[in-house]
Amino acid sequence: MGETVDKFICNRVVHHGPGAIERLDGEIHKLGGTRVGLITDPGVVKAGICKRVIEGINAEVFIFEGVEPEPSYELIDGCVAFLKEKGCDLVIGLGGGSGMDCAKMAAVMMKNTGKVTDYFGADRIPNPGLQVIAIPTTAGTGSEATPACVFVDPKDRVKKGVRSDFILPEVALLDPLLTFGLSQPLTASTGMDALTHAIEAYVSLRATLMSDIAAEQSIRLIGDHLRVAYSNGNNVSARYGMIMASFLGGVAIAVAGVGAVHALAHTLGGMHRVPHGVANALLLPYVMAFNRIGCRDRFARIASLLGEHVEGLSLEVASQRAVESVEKLNQDIYIPRHLRDLKIPEDSVDLIAERSIETGQRLLATNPRVISVEEAKEVLGIAY
Ligand SMILES: [Fe+2]
Repeated sequence: MGETVDKFICNRVVHHGPGAIERLDGEIHKLGGTRVGLITDPGVVKAGICKRVIEGINAEVFIFEGVEPEPSYELIDGCVAFLKEKGCDLVIGLGGGSGMDCAKMAAVMMKNTGKVTDYFGADRIPNPGLQVIAIPTTAGTGSEATPACVFVDPKDRVKKGVRSDFILPEVALLDPLLTFGLSQPLTASTGMDALTHAIEAYVSLRATLMSDIAAEQSIRLIGDHLRVAYSNGNNVSARYGMIMASFLGGVAIAVAGVGAVHALAHTLGGMHRVPHGVANALLLPYVMAFNRIGCRDRFARIASLLGEHVEGLSLEVASQRAVESVEKLNQDIYIPRHLRDLKIPEDSVDLIAERSIETGQRLLATNPRVISVEEAKEVLGIAY
């Protein structure tokens, strides 16, 4: 560390705390938004969150509520057509990762020609898009803090990413009160997605001083708060801890990227429609057990950040504690333990491994341990 020039990227403005959405109108005004396109999903509208968010906005607001879970890139065409028809000059992304990712990509497509598929990969978008205000309603994806978004390609059911500095939202509003209504299963799976981001970024080969600061605090916050947020969804400090952990996880992966958990989870999600958070949560301890020998010192520190006592332990034992601690956390919040619990056919495990290694090379490049197809099969076999 410190021998190369590293890059740090983060939103221009972040408001965080209970009631943060009250700052929304002021931010819209500062950004010159007069016709605001709000991209969200039907669940957010049904939960009354959308109404709460738009109540305080003085500009005209047009709501696109057609975002689906694990969206296909084809959905973006609909978002863009809507924003153009309404003459929008600013975009709000409200929701979990899907809502925010669709808003981020649609905003960019408002100022770039061509198709979404032209921009899969890194740094291929020529122009900045409309400005985006991101408002998460779950505490997990950290999409509000990342210059990337992920979509399913319906032709081959592979998840594909777009990465560009122009995708990073200008403003993020982190309001824990918006997450009060999150169900226990969603609190659990999205919270573990955040932990996956923080841990993958922390052990990434591209980790930097700045990503470490974000990742360490994210891991600590999740160790302190996820069980309480799960147990009592109306606990403000636990919900605040989790929405900050999610944001910091996003900050960390914006710099350091993710790793093998995400490579495998993207294939699981693409092929078998397993929700992103569930796939990550389930696979995290198995991949940690595999990766551990690649960076035992960092795993020992993860154990400590999660609240384990590791003083005086050997690196070998202390690093094992990180894996055990995540297993225990998964158990406490009822994350499914095995792939068979998700009704994944056993004979598809090999194909998941092959596809993950084939399509996940960009993610796997920063994984702390090189993973072959055979090893991926082995990890998934244990997880099965
Ligand atoms: Fe993720």
